[in-house]
Amino acid sequence: MKHIEVDLSKAIAFVDKGNFNQKCKLCAENDLKLKNKTGVGSDFLGWYDFPNKISDDLVYRINETASILRKNSEIIVVIGIGGSYLGAEAIINTLSGHFHCSKNNKPHIIFAGQNLSGDYHSELLSFLRGKKFSLIVISKSGTTTEPAIAFRLLRKELERSVGKEQAAKQIVAITDPKQGALRKLALQEKYTLFEIPSDIGGRYSVLSPVGLLPVACAGFDIQQLINGAKSMFEISNSNYAENPVYQYAALRHIFYSDSKTIEIIANYNPLLKSFSEWWKQLFGESEGKDKKGIFPVSVSYTTDLHSLGQYVQDGMRNIFETVLSVEIDKFDLKIPKDNLDHDNINYIAGKELGYVNKMAELGTILAHVSGGVPNIVIKIPELSEFYLGQLFYFFQKACAISGYLLGVNPFDQPGVESYKKNMFALLGKAGFEKDISEI
Ligand code: PA5
Repeated sequence: MKHIEVDLSKAIAFVDKGNFNQKCKLCAENDLKLKNKTGVGSDFLGWYDFPNKISDDLVYRINETASILRKNSEIIVVIGIGGSYLGAEAIINTLSGHFHCSKNNKPHIIFAGQNLSGDYHSELLSFLRGKKFSLIVISKSGTTTEPAIAFRLLRKELERSVGKEQAAKQIVAITDPKQGALRKLALQEKYTLFEIPSDIGGRYSVLSPVGLLPVACAGFDIQQLINGAKSMFEISNSNYAENPVYQYAALRHIFYSDSKTIEIIANYNPLLKSFSEWWKQLFGESEGKDKKGIFPVSVSYTTDLHSLGQYVQDGMRNIFETVLSVEIDKFDLKIPKDNLDHDNINYIAGKELGYVNKMAELGTILAHVSGGVPNIVIKIPELSEFYLGQLFYFFQKACAISGYLLGVNPFDQPGVESYKKNMFALLGKAGFEKDISEI
């Protein structure tokens, strides 16, 4: 069975071999802290072996709920922000294809509550009017402002359109198993309810019902996603010298120590754009604290070679790249011959576009490396549920180990509270009266 691999060949020349081996060993030591729950933030390690623990019964319930929602809805709106939507969006956008919102575009999956734009939500309400839609609301705390507002708006619209009793049958809530406003409301209104395990934080929750239900609603195979994650769990337990998770975490930590404080995740297939958004949140929110951390950035090549390429090639040398390299395209497409050849591309006529893209990828990697930018290449056999499952688990574990290498808690996000405090004070929320005089 193939699996995702880390190709070190375009990065290893930038580091000292002995140092790299030492760092890989250190990764193994930190992995042991995760395994034994002896490190900081150990209350949030439920994701670590969740793919192995997820029961057939839960998978069955998720698939059953998804099939009812799919049957009864033209549109399913998934409401959530941060870790409560980015994983699902990443999978659905990667697998649906460029011009679809789900497998075969039925039902249409739309995300809401991930911003506070009045225009976005007004347009969404108009778009939904007269259509059959259902809601999946995801919030661990149940009080996050953005999804709370979106859910209130959309719930009212649904109740107005089908009545309160029927609306309750078309709403699914995913929230904390014990507490929180959303849990209370769901129980009171008898919404179908799924739980986010208490020991899994938002950005590590894609392989829980948070990601699995929307993905099943979009028509994709969640068992394959779980199988992929399970297989990466095994792979990531291998010896430190061959362990791809340790290799990735070790390299990025060495680069960081060498003042390369920006990591660019690069794809050569725009289907992976949303995956990069998930990755940015995972690493940004996990590592960026105590005045430390690598700043995560994303690009889609070759598009961004015509915007940021100049900087990457020639700008400040504080960056390294992690390339998501998909080995095969889903479709074959040959470049046609043109007798007049006005555009001078007959030399590649008859070649697959995927091959041309591969050569652009290789050419770019070699150019960036010679310009002083190390490239860690993550080879993905193809874009499928199974390999995405591997990729999610790979990055989650690498991120947790990276946080430990850095000396931060990779499972909290204290900095996120500052904007909320100011926003609540400015909006006049009770309890924030004192803060308004400070800002
Ligand atoms: O990773 C995280 O913990 C955050 O991004 C949360 O997922 C996000 O803030 C949403 O929180 P909640 O699910 O409580 O609404």
